[in-house]
Amino acid sequence: MDIRTFGDSVLRRKAETVAVIDDDIRGICQLMVEVMIRENGVGLAAPQIGISKRIFVLDVDDEFHILINPELVELSEEVVETKEGCLSVPGVDAVVTRSTRAVVEGLNLNGEHVRLEGEGLIARAIQHEMDHLNGNLFLDQLSTARRQSLIKEYQRVKREEQE
Ligand code: NI
Repeated sequence: MDIRTFGDSVLRRKAETVAVIDDDIRGICQLMVEVMIRENGVGLAAPQIGISKRIFVLDVDDEFHILINPELVELSEEVVETKEGCLSVPGVDAVVTRSTRAVVEGLNLNGEHVRLEGEGLIARAIQHEMDHLNGNLFLDQLSTARRQSLIKEYQRVKREEQE
């Protein structure tokens, strides 16, 4: 299972709400956790493996979190600037401004209501993965000039890898 990368249209689509949590959905979640571990990611959203559904997984503080149909319910006004990267834009990172604290609510694999909240890395990861479900990438947070130079850098890295 390959990670979809920048330029793939699935990353730009607003992902669909999961209607029923069945074995197919549980299988997708399992696969997402496996891919996240394999790629050493902090988080992974379903569109990143080509599945346009509202699911993300996180691996923060030695704990796995699976969120189905997540909704952001709280974002702090206080923000912080930190370097951020994405498995779908490998080889580049950029300083992105995010709320220091985030709260998200959704469903777990059993269809039970779950709430995930935190500061620092977990808050950043929640915001980053929610962006994926809405067709946004961390690059979109940057100024046009900075984004264009980062995309050039990304394409250069990619070219070099193929040579
Ligand atoms: Ni990402």
